[in-house]
Amino acid sequence: MPKLPALALSALIAAAAATGARADEMARAIEIVQGKCFICHGVDGESASPIFPRLAGQNEAYVVRQLRDYKSGKRVSSAMQPMVADLDDADFTALGRYFASRPTHVHQVEDTELAQVGAYIYKHGNRYSGVAACASCHGPSGYGTNLLPRLAGQHAQYTEKQIKEFNSRARTNDNMVMHTVASKLTELETKAVAAYLAGLK
Ligand code: HEC
Ligand code: HEC
Repeated sequence: MPKLPALALSALIAAAAATGARADEMARAIEIVQGKCFICHGVDGESASPIFPRLAGQNEAYVVRQLRDYKSGKRVSSAMQPMVADLDDADFTALGRYFASRPTHVHQVEDTELAQVGAYIYKHGNRYSGVAACASCHGPSGYGTNLLPRLAGQHAQYTEKQIKEFNSRARTNDNMVMHTVASKLTELETKAVAAYLAGLK
């Protein structure tokens, strides 16, 4: 083998170590998911029941923050708090990377006319009542950003429930942003936007 310059060699070693660390992290995430999370969220984050959020493709830093908030009690949930009580920050990072890497799927929209109303609200908001366009923060396709949740493909029932909980402040870790948005949405707009988002891949 030709002698590699020292710099290239150390870069190679660093890359190999990083790959090893990533593999360990994935293995740890799979161990946790297959140990408990799968019961409600599915092995690949594709939860079958509308009361459990889909996590496939959810953004890494958003997942990490929610898990931390469940652990500290900042986001209150009697279902989630015991799930994360014995996990640490390294586990949360592993889980965030894992779910962000899971493939997303196409879901049938139940009421396509309602979803069309939702598409309008999502893209343009409601200028007569001061609802901001959801797309301005969650992105044109509902993918969010690393810190902002992906909404595309989520169960309509979960989305609707979260919007109502932002409004009533039952979702306790929101920094006012979503409370302000939710407080201006009517029942029809809430259901419409949830129906629309469920159909996005
Ligand atoms: C007994 C069912 C159950 C199990 C098991 C469970 N969860 Fe959950 N999970 C829920 C429910 C219900 C919610 C919604 C709670 C709320 O409204 O805050 C949720 C919410 C979440 C969220 C927030 C999603 C979002 O879009 O804001 C994340 C992330 C999450 N769970 C990850 C996990 C992980 C990781 C595990 C395994 C360690 C796990 N869950 C195990 C029921 C469960
Ligand atoms: C100004 C920016 C902004 C706008 C506009 C906005 N959102 Fe959000 N949204 C956020 C932030 C930030 C969060 C994360 C809150 C948290 O972490 O507690 C969020 C969270 C959510 C969640 C929770 C997702 C989950 O997985 O639990 C839903 C649902 C949601 N937004 C729906 C909407 C809808 C529908 C609209 C339009 C009517 C909208 N948002 C407009 C910033 C925004």
